[in-house]
Amino acid sequence: MKQQREHWGSKLGFIMATAGSAIGLGSLWRFPYIAGQNGGGAFVLLYLFFTLIIGIPAFIGELIIGRAAQKGAIGAYTELSHGSTHWKLLGWLNLLTSFIILSYYSVVSGWGINYALMSLSNFTAGRTPEQIKAIFNTVYISGDINIFWLFIFMLMTAGVVYGGIKKGIEYWSKMLMPALFAILIGLFIYSTTLPGFKEAAKFILYPDFSKLNAGSILSALGMALFTLSVGLGIILTYGSYMKSSEDIPKTGLIIGGVSVSVSLLSALMIFPIVFTFGFEPEAGPGLVFQTLPVLFSKLPGTLVLSTIFFVLFIFATLTSTISILEVLVSNLIEVFNWSRKKAVLISSFVTFIFGIPTALSGSGSLFKNWKAIYNKDFFATLNDLTADWLMPLSAFFTVLFISFVMKKSFSKEEFTKGTTIPKLMHTWFFLVRYVAPIAILIIILQQSGIINLSKLF
Ligand code: PFF
Repeated sequence: MKQQREHWGSKLGFIMATAGSAIGLGSLWRFPYIAGQNGGGAFVLLYLFFTLIIGIPAFIGELIIGRAAQKGAIGAYTELSHGSTHWKLLGWLNLLTSFIILSYYSVVSGWGINYALMSLSNFTAGRTPEQIKAIFNTVYISGDINIFWLFIFMLMTAGVVYGGIKKGIEYWSKMLMPALFAILIGLFIYSTTLPGFKEAAKFILYPDFSKLNAGSILSALGMALFTLSVGLGIILTYGSYMKSSEDIPKTGLIIGGVSVSVSLLSALMIFPIVFTFGFEPEAGPGLVFQTLPVLFSKLPGTLVLSTIFFVLFIFATLTSTISILEVLVSNLIEVFNWSRKKAVLISSFVTFIFGIPTALSGSGSLFKNWKAIYNKDFFATLNDLTADWLMPLSAFFTVLFISFVMKKSFSKEEFTKGTTIPKLMHTWFFLVRYVAPIAILIIILQQSGIINLSKLF
């Protein structure tokens, strides 16, 4: 007997779950350090631009595909293309990308658990900012500890996803997201009082285009897709649990706005610390872990504040990892007819195993020559491969699918169903049909060395 598809229990629940998916490591961890490495303001502007012209339109498109098909990525692309095997492959590409991302994403989330526990033992007490910063390196090279927390984190993710949509994902997102917003705003307000705030605001908000390099443009696109979880079938899957009365375009705009705000908030919270204590803006993946504890150590109630922050950090990543795991699970259930239990167990176990090389990346105990051969460690390889290549490629085919495979009248009808802003339909369609594919294609070709735009100027 065909089971009825589960749906979100309420509008608010759906918005919180989707915001939960969007807000995670992308905004809190990845955005600040990539913006730092790419020189600040100009990169931030590009990121905002790509979010507006590519990220949000593609996000809306994924919701439409999911809601229309009421299936996960593989099923949805197959059904809406009337059985095409080629488009089915896009579903599989979504699955593969989600799987790779989840494996390293959970390792970084594991660092969050480390820091929550370290906070409980007041690890910043009696240490100078430089010493606090150095602790991250110890965490990074501690392979066994990282594997342990990776395992625990996968277990937590699997537990929520096993609970299903309403009782698992929606319930937890509704509880955790408001608390996260509150603490972020509180910390941001405190950061504005630091002496380095002015310099930080200038660094983040003032665009100096001479600081951009060729790779920055692709990174900004990758970042826009990453923070909105676009190009992996996540949003599509969440859309498939929507009822047709729900307002898709409005959801896209709200989540786009919230995700960009959290990214900016997070950078404006971290960079004042960087400039106040003379750290390097290009510090890399350790940035958030190296800077915030310094801020906490200066505040009254260090232990409580720092612990609360890292616990919320874990929650922010958990509401994202559940959305990534749900992509794997929903597809496995539909394609192989597995039970939810079997799909959750197998996919999280395999992801855990694949996450081990990332967890061991800093320790150098596995793949010793990886860095010498590929120029970056295993963790950085996956991080860049997914955000700079697989997500843009997958987003490219997603927008093509919406504009050229789905009938124009159908896409438009789905856009307007349940919305209070039907007038935006023409702008949206123009962006997904022309602007997004052309822009993504140019960026990918430029990055691959097939074309060289700088020759034109
Ligand atoms: N958008 C979330 C984040 O920025 O952390 C979660 C996420 C999902 C990130 C999927 C990346 C990704 F590929």
